[in-house]
Amino acid sequence: MMEKVNVLLHNDSFIKHKKKIECCEEGRGFCKHDINHCLDVARIMMILNYERAVAIPKNIIYATALLHDIGRDVQYEEGIPHEEAGVEIAYAILIECGFSEEESTWVTIAIRNHRNPVIRNEKDLNGVLYSADKLSRNCYVCPAEQRCDWKKEKKNMKLEY
Ligand SMILES: [Fe+2]
Ligand SMILES: [Fe+2]
Repeated sequence: MMEKVNVLLHNDSFIKHKKKIECCEEGRGFCKHDINHCLDVARIMMILNYERAVAIPKNIIYATALLHDIGRDVQYEEGIPHEEAGVEIAYAILIECGFSEEESTWVTIAIRNHRNPVIRNEKDLNGVLYSADKLSRNCYVCPAEQRCDWKKEKKNMKLEY
């Protein structure tokens, strides 16, 4: 089940973008978009997948979580929103790692939507990614909470997952 995900972890383009993002975020004190964030998102997605009875395959969940912020370096360098920039990058990586065109499209649609609050509670990959991404942030213990530009109602001030 996780073979393609493990191939993805060692994909050249995936590694290149993750390293660039790490460099761009060196001085960022909170909410980085590193591998730990991606894995937090993946594991909360797994919980929501069961709770909402969505039945998304595990490898699709992990591929989506690992790739959802892959366009961040392009956002830092060129100002293009990362949910847009990430679509093309992620699609190419998914195909290289052996995911089908259908699976790759499924994942990249969720990436494209991951900052669209309209799909927040949807019982599908889009909704599960959106919710998990937000729930992954530990605002309740964040030392930078006052400096964060998230609206108050968006911040997680209670532990849920
Ligand atoms: Fe994001
Ligand atoms: Fe994220």
